[in-house]
Amino acid sequence: MRMYDIIQKKKHGAALTKEEIFFAVQGFCDGEIPDYQMSAFLMAICLKGMNEQETTDLTLAMAKSGDQLDLSKIKGVTADKHSTGGVGDKTTLIIGPLVACAGVCVAKMSGRGLGHTGGTIDKLESFPGFQTALPTEKFIENVNTIHFSLASQTSNLAPADKKIYALRDVTATVDSIPLIASSIMSKKLAAGSQVIVLDVKVGSGAFMKNLPDAIALANTMVAIGNRAGRMTYALLTDMNQPLGRTVGNQLEVEEAIETLSGNGPKDLTTVSLRLAEWMLVGCKKATSVSEAEKIVRKLLFGGAAKEKLAEFVAAQGGDPSYVSTPQKFPKAPISLVVTSSKEGYVARINTEEIGISSLLLGGGRETKDSVIDLRAGIRLLKKAGEKVTKGEPIAILYGAKEESLAAAKTRLLAAYDFSELPPELPPLIYGYADADGFHPETQASFESKA
Ligand code: URA
Repeated sequence: MRMYDIIQKKKHGAALTKEEIFFAVQGFCDGEIPDYQMSAFLMAICLKGMNEQETTDLTLAMAKSGDQLDLSKIKGVTADKHSTGGVGDKTTLIIGPLVACAGVCVAKMSGRGLGHTGGTIDKLESFPGFQTALPTEKFIENVNTIHFSLASQTSNLAPADKKIYALRDVTATVDSIPLIASSIMSKKLAAGSQVIVLDVKVGSGAFMKNLPDAIALANTMVAIGNRAGRMTYALLTDMNQPLGRTVGNQLEVEEAIETLSGNGPKDLTTVSLRLAEWMLVGCKKATSVSEAEKIVRKLLFGGAAKEKLAEFVAAQGGDPSYVSTPQKFPKAPISLVVTSSKEGYVARINTEEIGISSLLLGGGRETKDSVIDLRAGIRLLKKAGEKVTKGEPIAILYGAKEESLAAAKTRLLAAYDFSELPPELPPLIYGYADADGFHPETQASFESKA
């Protein structure tokens, strides 16, 4: 087999065999296939696409390129949730404890934030003492005792994806649905859970800027998961503005605690509950989304999920008293209230710009080695659709350096767009995808096929 022939075949739009795809991925990982050939191959995929079987084979080849977690010692059905990335997305901190209370086993691998998006590992490190580098035995033991454990992704999880992604980043081959879907799903498959619930973000702050592309990505990932023997669902949710009202690690943890206390922002609460419902359906803890809804609402609004968060924090060496007393979290040394110079309604908030403002404040990483300030971030006082008067506060910035706050303020003000009339807002939840394809939210979304 020759890489040249595989590239040529894909260039002409023909479907590749499993053997050809594995040959390309393994050869690239072993250093036998050079960067220039892999780059040409990736570009051919970008231009000619891949069918479902090829995309699944590509995913499996990447998933099998490194460690594959063996979760067979976990007593119960394991479920994972993954978001395709956004700003202010702290749903894992809410959903993990919530579904754990319902008996779902959550053995989750998470990453750190990079660029304008945050990462769950950084957020959890806001709890003093919290450990994310858990030995596998401890990780499994915690899931068996409290149903929820979260560890930082091992460096050898789908290493082929890491190597391929680095090339995609510099060869303009990131925005390809088969490449994005296989990249995300290779890590999910290697992480071992039987049920996978995906949160595919749609909008200005997401990878997928429009609904048709998001549907195509969701359908592809669901098909890969199901073909690989994992029960997979995807929810399509809005990312035209940050989720909730906080961006920045510790602020997001505080908001997650507020949500688990029943007082969270409506968008964050709604998306978290719905994702949790699909996890219950996938794990057969409920026969429909409507039945699951009753269960998760009771666990969230009754306080059980908040208690579970404290239990989870303690099990990983963190101080659980911060869950009951979030006032204990240290405050950023300086803050700045940003006011509106306009009158009207918030029409749009450029999500990516808000993420960059938080990064400038010290809350995000410019490079993998940047040190972050967990206290830094933004509280959004006004979101899309809300009325604003001239001089009214729209956001509060938290950080440690005056010049960073000034730069972040400029960026934040540029991110806000105002209109005279109330704007038409996109839906928060567009629908879901299962093995039968996409189902818009207006359809009988509550009738699951589980
Ligand atoms: N996230 C990933 O892990 N991979 C992609 O290609 C895009 C988003």
